[in-house]
Formats: sequence, structure tokens, C-alpha cells
Amino acid sequence: MKINENFLKIESSYLFSNIAKKVKEYSLANPEKAKDIIRLGIGDVTRPLAPACIEAMHKAVDEMSKGETFRGYPPEYGYDFLLEAIRDNDYKSRGVELDISEIFVSDGAKSDTGNIGDIFSLQNKVAICDPVYPVYVDTNVMSGRSGDKADGKWSNIYYMPCIAENKFLPQLPKEKVDLIYLCFPNNPTGMAITKAELKKWVDYANENGAVILYDAAYEAFITEDDVPHTIYEIEGAKTCAVEFKSFSKTAGFTGVRCGYTVVPHELKTADGTELNKLWARRQATKFNGVSYITQRAAEAVYSPQGKQQVREIIEYYRHNAKTIYEGLKACGFEVYGAKNSPYVWLKTPENMGSWEFFDMLLDKLQVVGTPGEGFGPNGEGYFRLTAFGSKENTEKAVERIKNYFAK
Ligand code: MLT
Repeated sequence: MKINENFLKIESSYLFSNIAKKVKEYSLANPEKAKDIIRLGIGDVTRPLAPACIEAMHKAVDEMSKGETFRGYPPEYGYDFLLEAIRDNDYKSRGVELDISEIFVSDGAKSDTGNIGDIFSLQNKVAICDPVYPVYVDTNVMSGRSGDKADGKWSNIYYMPCIAENKFLPQLPKEKVDLIYLCFPNNPTGMAITKAELKKWVDYANENGAVILYDAAYEAFITEDDVPHTIYEIEGAKTCAVEFKSFSKTAGFTGVRCGYTVVPHELKTADGTELNKLWARRQATKFNGVSYITQRAAEAVYSPQGKQQVREIIEYYRHNAKTIYEGLKACGFEVYGAKNSPYVWLKTPENMGSWEFFDMLLDKLQVVGTPGEGFGPNGEGYFRLTAFGSKENTEKAVERIKNYFAK
């Protein structure tokens, strides 16, 4: 047999697996200090699920226990009750008309953003922001679309630097690209895009026959009016964009697993092939749907109680984001993000390397974050902290950083 040699091109371990391994090694070597570790690295939630979701799950479990209400395989693209709730609450309420056949429920945005490449030719040129959520790059490497790596960059990937000088927003490509990955509010920088800025991307994609793969997993954290909650709020987006959304950060489903992808019927190739049909075929073949219990929990997110409870949880994390942002700013750090996002992006002090800063925070303060370099070459010299910890731990971590750097 022969293996897919593209796998040999990438680092053997995924960014967040690497971090977990480093923290584990540190903990084994320093058992006493390990007790004080505060994890603000991976964007994993810590608040319990909203009571409305729990109630819905219990009810669904009871249904599964009786012959009359038992359910087997779920519909491959999601139950109508959830598709309709998504259509009405996430789109119709924002003036966007979708048909439920344009929505595909899945186990999350990580899988979908990673799998979407299946429906596109390997000949396509991919454009990504730098820094970027590593899944977009790694999955293109695995499939053989990236070319080879030199000086930290892949030869067939077009990098769009997102740096302080351009307010961490990508600039329109200067050469022909076919697939453009955008994530707003952004992971890792925490920065948002306005409707006017996003319109430029939609126009560019329509004019150039490119597709925007729009990851809106952090949409629930938006606070500013001119920031779009879905790319379809932008005129023309239905003919050029696929959108990914997730219940993970919105409703704390990182462990439950549920998200969805929108592929509008209007999105077609030049010869009229609907991308929707291709994605439907891909999902029906390689994915067997999300459990009934999970989909009932996701539906409950849209109930009046669910909405209120989820809003409170988001507010809790938002407060943490503010604590980190303001605390670090007050002690002289250059900080970004937080306003529309659970992520705070900071410049490392004294031009320290981002892994060096990671090691220092872990060793001296027992605080875990994510080194910017893990998100791409332009992340070097930066560091990401998440607001998904508990309020107490977040305050403690900020206090430790403040005390240390005030010296
Ligand atoms: C992150 O920390 O960047 C996220 O948790 C990754 C993810 O959502 O898969």
C-alpha cells in the first residue's frame, strides 16, 4: 500500500494537541505548580449548558426510551424542526430568505470547514488570512492543494497578512485566487469586519468567479451594529459564499457537537453546477447526521428561555474578554480584539517570540495561552488569550500577568 504522502508534509501534531502535550509535560515535571494552572489556550467553553437545552435533551432521551417515539438514523441534513428554527432565527430575522434545503446541520464548523475542500478541484488556488485558524491550511495540505512549504509558507497558498498596520483585516488578493477563507469575528485576532468592508469581498468574489468560505462561528459575540452576523446580509453573497456556523461558542456545544453550513442554490459554477448539490452528496455519503438528542438541544437555543439563557452565558464570557483586554492594556500591553469576540490578541512584550512567551507564562505564572506563531508566520510576536474560562480564573490570570509585568 501507499499512504497519502501529503500527510508527511505537515507537522505531525495539530496546534492545540501540541499545546495540550506541552502543558501535560510541564504538569508532570511540576506537580505542585500544576495545581495552579489556568487554561486560556484553546477556545473551549466552561459554563454549563443552558437549562432549556438540558431540558430538551432529557425529553429527547425519554422519547428514545419508548418504541412509539424512538428514532433511528436522523435525516442526513438535519431534522426540519431545527432547520426551520435556524432559517427563522438566524436568517429571516436579519432579512435573509433561505430555503431549508440550503442549510446542512452537522457536528460542527471545524468538520465542515475542513471537509468543504472535497467539493472543489485540487487545481484551485486557496487564499487564507495570516494568522489563521489552522484547520483551513492543514486540510488543504492533506488534500494536496497546498504545494510545498518553504520559509513557513505553502507555495500554492495565497497569504493575506492580517497585521496591525491594516487593522488585522486582509487586503483583496493581487493575483487570481479561487477559494477565499474568511473568518469574522476573527479567530485568532478577535477583530471584526464591517458590512462595508465585507461588501468589497463579495463584489471581488462575484467579479472573479471565486468562492468565499465564510466562518461565522463567533457571530454571537458581535456587539457593533455595522458588523454583519451573516455574510448573506451583504447583497450578492448568495452567488459567491458558503457560510459555516456553530453552536459551540454560541451555546456552549463544544462537547455536544452541532453546527451547520449554508450553501445557497444560487451559488453555481460558470457552467451552472450548483455547489449545494455537491455538498449534499458529500454529506449524505460521508456523514450520518447529528443525533436527535443533540438537535433537540440545538432547537432549544432558539426558544424564548433558551435565547435568554444563552445571552446570559455570552454576556459572562464577554465580561471576561473585557477583563483581559482592559487588564492587559492597563499594564502596558498592546491588545486587540475582545469587542466582538471571545479572543484577545496581544503583542508579546519586548518582541519576545510567541512560543518563548508561552513557555514563560506557563512556567512563571501558570497561565496557558496560544502562541500566535501557531496560527501562521504573521502571528509570530503575538499571543491569544480566550475569554472562555471562569470569571474567577480569568481575573486571577490577569492579576498574575499584571503583577509580573508591573515589576
Ligand atoms: C480555537 O481555540 O481556536 C478553537 O477552539 C478551535 C476550534 O473551535 O476548533
